[in-house]
Amino acid sequence: MDQTALFKLSYGLYIVSTAYDGKQNGCVVNTLTQVTSEPARLAVTVNKANLTAQLIEKSGLFNAVVLTQDAPIEHIGRFGFARGADREKYDRGDTQLDENGLPYTKQYAAALFSCKVVQMLDVGTHMMFIGEVTQAEKLDGAEPMTYAYYHQVKKGTTPKNAPSYQKPAQSKKTAWKCKVCGYIYEGDTLPEDFVCPVCKQPASAFEKI
Ligand SMILES: Cc1cc2nc3c(=O)[nH]c(=O)nc-3n(C[C@H](O)[C@H](O)[C@H](O)COP(=O)(O)O)c2cc1C
Repeated sequence: MDQTALFKLSYGLYIVSTAYDGKQNGCVVNTLTQVTSEPARLAVTVNKANLTAQLIEKSGLFNAVVLTQDAPIEHIGRFGFARGADREKYDRGDTQLDENGLPYTKQYAAALFSCKVVQMLDVGTHMMFIGEVTQAEKLDGAEPMTYAYYHQVKKGTTPKNAPSYQKPAQSKKTAWKCKVCGYIYEGDTLPEDFVCPVCKQPASAFEKI
């Protein structure tokens, strides 16, 4: 089986957030998709190890913002590489609340959807949540970011917890992982003056994976 055939699938890029018992959290996903129109329902697949999945299971609620092309790697790192179990992601004074009381940031967001979970499916490493949209709003007029744009133009990478992750051996690339935040740099050599775009650690904080 040629696993790299999976790279031909197209996706967008989103931040899915929730809140439970006073804890707000969210993570970057590429697996959000609309599954029905009447009523409008969205499905998202979140790794069971992610705090976001654990909180959605308890709250029965999630929202999603569509990331815009101009979202910097630092913003994606805040939600897509950092773990809510280790640090507070919604602590920067840019938190808005949607109609279900869930957090999101308006910055780099083309649209917002807030959903009530109507079905949960255990798909192994991940939980699939299907949610009915109770609020839908357009925000920033900027172009939405596609997964391909994130990789090809932003030179972004994908951590292990994403369903679309493939081991460097399968993608035939050498990679270096930041031991502090988990950011992955792909390349045969890591430049000596490299600084982690997410947590600003120097090259010495990276290990070859
Ligand atoms: C481009 C990109 C796509 C991702 N897609 C998914 C996804 O679809 N599902 C998922 O569970 N994690 C995905 N992740 C990984 C999570 O965002 C990441 O593991 C995050 O640190 C989890 O945070 P949490 O533990 O606070 O929930 C993706 C990350 C990136 C950068």
